[in-house]
Amino acid sequence: VSAKALLSFLETESGHLDQAGLLRRELALEAPAGPTLMLGGKEVLNLASGDYLGLSGNAELKRAVKQAIDGWGVGLTSPRAVTGTLRAHQELEKALATYLGAEEALVFPSGYHANTGTFESLFSDRDFVFCDEQVHPSLADGLRLCRARIYSYRNQDLEHLEDRLKRSRAARFRAIVTDGFFSTVGETAKLAEIYALADRYEAVVFVDDSEGVGVLGAKGRGTHEALGLEKRLDMVTGSLGTAFGVAGGYAAGRKQIIGWLRQKSRPYLAASALAPGFAAGAARALQLVQENSMARDALRENARTLRTALGEQGLQLVAGEHPAISVMIGNAVTAQRMTDLLLKKGVYVTGFCYPVVPEGAARVRAQVTARHPAKALKNAAVAFGEAWKDVSHTTRPR
Ligand SMILES: Cc1ncc(COP(=O)(O)O)c(C=O)c1O
Repeated sequence: VSAKALLSFLETESGHLDQAGLLRRELALEAPAGPTLMLGGKEVLNLASGDYLGLSGNAELKRAVKQAIDGWGVGLTSPRAVTGTLRAHQELEKALATYLGAEEALVFPSGYHANTGTFESLFSDRDFVFCDEQVHPSLADGLRLCRARIYSYRNQDLEHLEDRLKRSRAARFRAIVTDGFFSTVGETAKLAEIYALADRYEAVVFVDDSEGVGVLGAKGRGTHEALGLEKRLDMVTGSLGTAFGVAGGYAAGRKQIIGWLRQKSRPYLAASALAPGFAAGAARALQLVQENSMARDALRENARTLRTALGEQGLQLVAGEHPAISVMIGNAVTAQRMTDLLLKKGVYVTGFCYPVVPEGAARVRAQVTARHPAKALKNAAVAFGEAWKDVSHTTRPR
């Protein structure tokens, strides 16, 4: 097949996506993203970002990043395993391990790298890995690179997981892999039950807590803290580009596993290292989060405000306390119409439909941050109510 055939095939397929209204278009931001976005000369409320603590524009973080750039340069131009590691990386790893209550931590250029670099070197075809079907795509990709036998279980269906575990007598090692908070579905993982199964069937548990760390738990230590499971933590991976507002990723947990990843993890060995500015910025973000709970308190209050106001509008929410709030819509086309209508009303949100969530259970997600004014959130809930009235005469949520 010549390049011409491929290019023409792609043009046709993109045309089909466009006709179906599914062609993604980049939103060109005309000002820094914050509680609002500037799109096409219009200011809209931004309920579609992981900047939960509002740290991405924080003045102290900017200062820390600039200082590190002045001292150490912009980029490292090679993997840490090749040219060498920086004090900033080592300090960040120590700080992350302490914060998370882990034995050790390893920093990656992104959360995506952490998830794609964690499994391949640990497990072979003699091992069984059990994975929630709704894990983040980066975990799914990490497992695809791994030669273990992968068994997925229905989202949060622990009977299904146990059924799989029961039939794993042939395994050399077992691992269970889950997100801490499923941000498209809107639910926190049932980690206590997962660890109980892990104990019963001798499995090691890997939790991607990119959406939990910084956000959930009294000290923001994530899903484990929120569920009183900090002491039970085996392995956690995460992003430094969501709640911490910077960029980068990490794996943390058992020292033998982290030690092995330092020897064998391909993104650690073969991707250029997290830039000095980001390493120093993430370390500063970690300090800020521990020194002061104000942003976390404001975030919690804002999440409560929007959840209550949406409930008062008669909308059906996925229950919880997380600032990523899922509003149940049902039909995929209705969800798309809701997001379009809301944008017209000046509220930017994200819609999810099958296969990202179960069929017929499409939802619209509103992500609250610490920096949103309460009034704007209450107005957004009214806009949600109006949009829902407009679209719901055709479909009801499941
Ligand atoms: C659950 C989850 N895992 C992994 C990632 C990827 O992290 P990064 O953006 O640092 O690559 C994200 C990013 O938002 C995430 O939400």
